[in-house]
Amino acid sequence: MTIAVHESALIRHFNTRKETLQAWEEHIGARFSPFRGFKMPESRLYVEHPTFLDSIVDLVLTNERHIFLRGPVGSGKSTLMLLALRDLPTLADRRGNKFVTGYVGMTGLYEKQMSAAIADSLKIKYRRSWESSQIIEAVADECVRRYIEEQCRTALFIEDVADNQEASFHKLRYLADLPSEEMRDSFEGALDEPVVTLIMSGTREYWNAMMAFLPQIADRTEPLDVPPLNLDQALEFIGRRIAYAQGKIDLFNPDEFSIYPFTEEAIKILNDAAGGNPRDLRMLARGCQQVAAEGFKQARNPKVDAKIAELVSGAYESILKEVR
Ligand SMILES: Nc1ncnc2c1ncn2[C@@H]1O[C@H](COP(=O)(O)OP(=O)(O)OP(=O)(O)O)[C@@H](O)[C@H]1O
Ligand SMILES: [Mg+2]
Repeated sequence: MTIAVHESALIRHFNTRKETLQAWEEHIGARFSPFRGFKMPESRLYVEHPTFLDSIVDLVLTNERHIFLRGPVGSGKSTLMLLALRDLPTLADRRGNKFVTGYVGMTGLYEKQMSAAIADSLKIKYRRSWESSQIIEAVADECVRRYIEEQCRTALFIEDVADNQEASFHKLRYLADLPSEEMRDSFEGALDEPVVTLIMSGTREYWNAMMAFLPQIADRTEPLDVPPLNLDQALEFIGRRIAYAQGKIDLFNPDEFSIYPFTEEAIKILNDAAGGNPRDLRMLARGCQQVAAEGFKQARNPKVDAKIAELVSGAYESILKEVR
């Protein structure tokens, strides 16, 4: 009995809170919170880092190094991978080679799971009964065939590469080293450059570990730090999310958009507190929405101003430190 009373009090509290938030959302013409997390990546919410994206793509085109996209949790590594994945198939390198791309987004993979995931991502057939080494041989052969016969290099994207089982790295290393001496010899000069480029992601801690334990890959890999959002990008980040929640994202103009009911000063404070990390910026903006919604309920003022931004940033400071 007591429990039921307790529960309903909680639910009542929860519903009041929800109504408060919704009143604020309705006031700004939004159909849902602009700062909720979306499970599926939504490309219309992306704020591009054009020069950084170009530097990734250029490195792949020159075919000198593998790439390690380095950045803290939530900094946008996966997002950049998706953008690079989108661009690469439309490009060709200076020799006229085109690109086949594969993306392994799952982690925690054992050797065989990793081999199978790579084959699947590159649409290469194999039998379930095969050993991991047979699967990876089939992948290697097909990558070489695509290079020789179709003038296609392979770009293989591996997310959070640290979070896989150690044995699976040997499979990656094998692909990273292609073509083998044997292959070079048998194709007499037709195979004079690497045919598979790895684009991996992970945190700085893992990059350091990789240099220590896998120098064979690390030595030939360029670490690229995901840049934090600058103020203009932070403004666009908020603007896009508001427009999206209003159902107006298709009309979004990056040169002229509204950040109402945020002030520019508030966004600057939030972005500084977030260190330009988009995931943290979203969390902070959501915190601000909650405070502003209370303000709207009491005084019909929906504004997220510097005062609210300071308050929320202060409250989140310790949390942000912990998750980093
Ligand atoms: N440039 C960007 N523009 C808009 N939103 C972004 C941008 N970069 C990242 N985000 C958003 O921030 C969140 C975190 O991004 P993402 O998942 O790419 O980071 P990550 O570095 O891969 O994180 P993790 O370490 O958790 O895998 C996502 O909600 C994503 O949509
Ligand atoms: Mg990620």
